[in-house]
Amino acid sequence: MPPDKLKDLQTFLESLTHAEGIGNLVEQALKPFKSSLNYRGYLVLVLDEEEDQFSLRYVRNLSRSSQKTVFNLIDEGIIDWSLERGEPTIIPHPQRIEQLGHLTEDNFLIIPLIAGGERVGAIVVLCPLSDNLMNNQVLKSLSILSHILATAIENFKLRSNVQRKIEKLSTLIKASTIISSSLILDDVLSSLLKLTLKEVTSEYGFLLLMDRENEQLLPKASLGASLSKISNDPKSLSKGAIGLVAKSGKPLIIDDYEKDPRFCASGEFVGLAPRTLLLVPLKTKKGVSGVLVLCNARDKPFYTNDNLRTALTLANSAVVAIEKSYLYEDLRQSFLDTVIALTTLIDMKDRYTRGHSVRVTRYCLQIARKLNLSRREIEILKFGALLHDIGKVGVDESILHKPSKLTDEEYKAIKRHPEMGEDVIRHIKFLEEGLQIIRHHHERYDGKGYPNGLKGKDIPLLARIIAVADAFDAMTSDRPYRKAFSFQKTIEELKKGAGTQFDPEIVKLAIAVFKEMRKQGPILHW
Ligand SMILES: [Fe+2]
Repeated sequence: MPPDKLKDLQTFLESLTHAEGIGNLVEQALKPFKSSLNYRGYLVLVLDEEEDQFSLRYVRNLSRSSQKTVFNLIDEGIIDWSLERGEPTIIPHPQRIEQLGHLTEDNFLIIPLIAGGERVGAIVVLCPLSDNLMNNQVLKSLSILSHILATAIENFKLRSNVQRKIEKLSTLIKASTIISSSLILDDVLSSLLKLTLKEVTSEYGFLLLMDRENEQLLPKASLGASLSKISNDPKSLSKGAIGLVAKSGKPLIIDDYEKDPRFCASGEFVGLAPRTLLLVPLKTKKGVSGVLVLCNARDKPFYTNDNLRTALTLANSAVVAIEKSYLYEDLRQSFLDTVIALTTLIDMKDRYTRGHSVRVTRYCLQIARKLNLSRREIEILKFGALLHDIGKVGVDESILHKPSKLTDEEYKAIKRHPEMGEDVIRHIKFLEEGLQIIRHHHERYDGKGYPNGLKGKDIPLLARIIAVADAFDAMTSDRPYRKAFSFQKTIEELKKGAGTQFDPEIVKLAIAVFKEMRKQGPILHW
């Protein structure tokens, strides 16, 4: 053997213990054959025992069409046949035969990888037909080498299986951290999609959820492409790949979407031309509740079974998040129904304020949107506003309905309602954060309010919002001792109170809100 070949062989033997991956190992193994075979490129297939399928593990200088041809060789059983033979096999490139009608210089050399009698995989090399390729000595050397290589690859497989399990565990830990981080489903799904696109390296992706009422798929989260790139036409979705996965409940890998006659004309994607797709159904106990769509595998021609396994793991995490969120949403809705029933109780107690709590809540939510409050703050404000006067249940009706001026004692009794409300609600854990706004909704910006005489920004923001909404509704409602103010007079009164009774910034926003609401129609009183 010439010295340079010996050097290559030595490098290969060293790589058996130091190589960073299967690709590196095969590269070193084929180096001594570079000049004799003059190969253009190659790929490495490794048999996945669990799936009993070949998976693509490494590609070097092989075009997409040649890679597809190799996959056709798998489908036609030629790779299996070569493994059964147990010797390197030369197969003419089928496309060239079709075009030219005779053997050409491009051929696939299939090198079977067998270790201890077990099938490990195959290396498929694209090389021109030459005397060397037909030379038995070269093929014999390749055969010996392939056995050493197969054992080394088998070791790599074992190590990478352990690595894969560690990675799966790490992905699961990341996913469960995301699920427990928030109760807001949209946020959880966006974070899970981000993790999925990172783990299953893809250019962009979407998550669609089945609407609970009309059972239609709706885009819920996207990354790398806008949500509007998914059609909102149920017919397009049902004709496409997304609809098929939702209907069948089975995952789907598409290698060339644009040329797939089943889906390419469906119109499910708007202005997008995805190349490769991986779709996974989100299956709950009640059926398919959504579809995870990953588009354009990065750094590889197709999505692999390994990608599918990771996507399935993450889809299961999304299902856990969805079920948790639906459960929470059902609980929240029944809680909201109970709270609204409670406000009816407040209204029954004080007939002059019928519908007051619901109206105040509506005003507060509009003001909160102008203030760009977070969803959580809006949620607290909603329950706080609905229940701000719950303490009035403890005030004597004769005082609440008294048409004449209140005595000091009577006024004191009324002034106790924020604290009594706080006492009532204190035991409901869900409303913990709303306690402060119930207690402080009668504080004044100048510090002359009750119960604590808090001043300015020391008064919780949500309580300052309720104070303005509460006053607006009180002034526009009839009272035992006066008729309702006109809209204009109420606005004037709010302006007068800005900086003394109310937070001036909130008054400004609230007046804009009241004017907008009035434009949309009369503000109804029950
Ligand atoms: Fe009140």
